[in-house]
Amino acid sequence: MEALPVFVSLRSNFYERSSSRQVSGCTRLTLLFVLIFNLSRCSSALRVIGGNITEVQGETVVLPCKLIDTTETLTQISWQRMTRGKPQNDNFYTITSQNGPQFVNGRDDRFQIIGNFSDKNGSIQLSNVTLLDEGVYTCIFTLFPSGNHETKIPLNLLVPPVTSLSHNHAVLGNEEVSLATCTAAGSRPPAEVRWLTGTLAEKVRATDSSTQHSNGTTTTVSSLFGVPTKEINQHVVQCVVTNPALSKEETMSFTIQVYFSPMGVYIGEKSKDSFRCVTEANPSANFTWRR
Ligand SMILES: *[C@@H]1O[C@H](CO)[C@@H](O)[C@H](O)[C@H]1NC(C)=O
Ligand SMILES: *[C@@H]1O[C@H](CO)[C@@H](O)[C@H](O)[C@H]1NC(C)=O
Ligand SMILES: *[C@@H]1O[C@H](CO)[C@@H](O)[C@H](O)[C@H]1NC(C)=O
Repeated sequence: MEALPVFVSLRSNFYERSSSRQVSGCTRLTLLFVLIFNLSRCSSALRVIGGNITEVQGETVVLPCKLIDTTETLTQISWQRMTRGKPQNDNFYTITSQNGPQFVNGRDDRFQIIGNFSDKNGSIQLSNVTLLDEGVYTCIFTLFPSGNHETKIPLNLLVPPVTSLSHNHAVLGNEEVSLATCTAAGSRPPAEVRWLTGTLAEKVRATDSSTQHSNGTTTTVSSLFGVPTKEINQHVVQCVVTNPALSKEETMSFTIQVYFSPMGVYIGEKSKDSFRCVTEANPSANFTWRR
């Protein structure tokens, strides 16, 4: 805000001559100084208030935009966007006092003005927000006489993962095998997948992998490995998925199944004329008596 002395004296002369019409003198001076010298005393406090919005896909968002601290005349509010769906800067919505809100390049009823032109509030609402809407929105107030004033509003989308757990039926052995796979598909940001294995912590291990999709989502997969022993059979293990788009973490449980055939059969006399046959197997063995 530096002014050359010559302009300062110009301004004071102007004020002296138009002291009875100070408001309009002030605005005209602003035009002169903003347009030519990019200097303005009268609108120095003018501000456009926006925001930085994060919302879960499918919800309704408000893109806030308000002009404050100006007495200039508002001629138009316009909205532009640069999003995944519209990667080129796209003029999509204007609001004027005569015509109200209007779509510029095609109608999209998900947008609705919730601000008020006469309050210099250009806030809009967007319902059923999708990943394609993610990007930067620019809200522009066109004033007379000072011209355009804008703010940029980033819109960030969260997408909850689709979670699933699949487990394998392992057969007793000495080699490590995959016991279960926990998947958190298509989330933004990437989901965190972890296992609660309790007392088996030393006997199993997890490996994680993730795939990024072109639409900005990520699929995270965690596999649980272990040697299929009788010791781990029937233990309950949980997979826990956390993600900012989920209102709470998701937990999926499963019981480790290690299959083995009967190993040793014991026959004992339970009481007189009554015998008991015992064996251990998974799944449970069928018993057939012969004599
Ligand atoms: C907006 O908020 C998001 C999420 O909180 C953050 O990652 C990002 O850096 C912010 N962007 C700006 C321009 O402040
Ligand atoms: C938003 O989505 C719901 C459910 O899919 C649908 O009924 C509604 O018409 C959509 N609203 C708009 C404005 O597209
Ligand atoms: C993103 O892309 C993946 C892989 O093509 C797809 O499965 C998923 O449904 C997409 N997600 C959204 C929110 O569009």
